[in-house]
Amino acid sequence: MLVSRLKIALSCFAAIVAAQKITLEAEDATPSGTTVDTAVAGYSGTGYATGFDESADKITFTVSSDSVKLYDLSIRYAGIYGEKRTYVVVNGGASSEVYFPATDAFTDVSAGQVLLNEGANTLDIVSNWGWYLIDSITLTPSPPRAPHSISSSLVNSKASSKTVALYRYLISIYGEKILSGQQDLSWANWIAERVGKTPALVSVDLMDYSPSRVEHGTTSTAIEDAISHAKKGGIISVLWHWNAPTGLYDTEENPWWSGFYTRATDFDIAAALADTTNANYTLLIRDIDAIAVQLKRLQDADIPVLFRPLHEAEGGWFWWGAKGAEPAKKLWGILYERLTDYHRLNNLVWVWNSVLPDWYPGDETVDILSADVYAQGHGVSVISK
Ligand SMILES: *[C@@H]1O[C@H](CO)[C@@H](O)[C@H](O)[C@H]1NC(C)=O
Repeated sequence: MLVSRLKIALSCFAAIVAAQKITLEAEDATPSGTTVDTAVAGYSGTGYATGFDESADKITFTVSSDSVKLYDLSIRYAGIYGEKRTYVVVNGGASSEVYFPATDAFTDVSAGQVLLNEGANTLDIVSNWGWYLIDSITLTPSPPRAPHSISSSLVNSKASSKTVALYRYLISIYGEKILSGQQDLSWANWIAERVGKTPALVSVDLMDYSPSRVEHGTTSTAIEDAISHAKKGGIISVLWHWNAPTGLYDTEENPWWSGFYTRATDFDIAAALADTTNANYTLLIRDIDAIAVQLKRLQDADIPVLFRPLHEAEGGWFWWGAKGAEPAKKLWGILYERLTDYHRLNNLVWVWNSVLPDWYPGDETVDILSADVYAQGHGVSVISK
């Protein structure tokens, strides 16, 4: 009895979810420079939109939403002329680029999420590269996110009061507000000049303080930039394109200044960490100590830092992630210990940059989990023509 009631409840729930899912046929959208055709089989409805050959060509869907709501958008298309790109524009706002891999048949591709207003909305599919067929779009209300577990204290019990205050501030706005941010002060200034508002967060890169770059004469103003933004009340994040300590190919394709890429060095992180008496292990510590000098300048100015080193390790394109999760996590642990316990840096909030469980260094050394998102449909680009 209980089981069958549960089944009924579940099927009602499924029906509601299905009812909220909206599929709109491209042949019913308003065309602008496009036509409807039926020559390629496999479409739904009575045809598909084609003729995206001028940059302004587009189809406009009108979508109604019962409230302000976030939807997952998918586009059913055929890439019969090879891989292409399109733009999605919601309510005449900024455009978001979506990549269409080459296909023989009509296929669904995820186009990210869109936030619709209550009532009528427009959604344009604009040419961009053009030369694809559009069959339909489907909007499904985005499922609510599972609650995250948030620790009320930082991993470093000696964290300075300003650092704790920054962390508490982030917790206080968590799930409620979004902070705008930019990589590099120059881009923050670019925005400030154009819109009259300064992004809350500026991230600076310790890259040019890497000893194997300094050997080639690099200098940096990253710390000065961070101090200037912090003095205005801004939040500072720091990352580090850590040029490999040694083993740089320094060729035309892979010059010394690309030495943070796996492709530009034969530096083997697993081998270097396997033996702490190894010369390369010593070089890793030398580099961490060089970075500590810079972070201390921020500590001396009482500036807390969202510190995000060893980013995108799981991608494998940086040498610190090139040998898999174990060496990367081990290096994170060494970095944490050296900067926290040895150099007594108490102004760091430790931000790990991966959401893959296998790559997680553990609750003892991580304050915040982050992810770098390059997913299509999330980025905003400007239509240039
Ligand atoms: C240190 O790394 C370099 C560059 O990969 C390598 O050529 C060298 O053999 C390594 N040294 C030791 C002692 O493993």
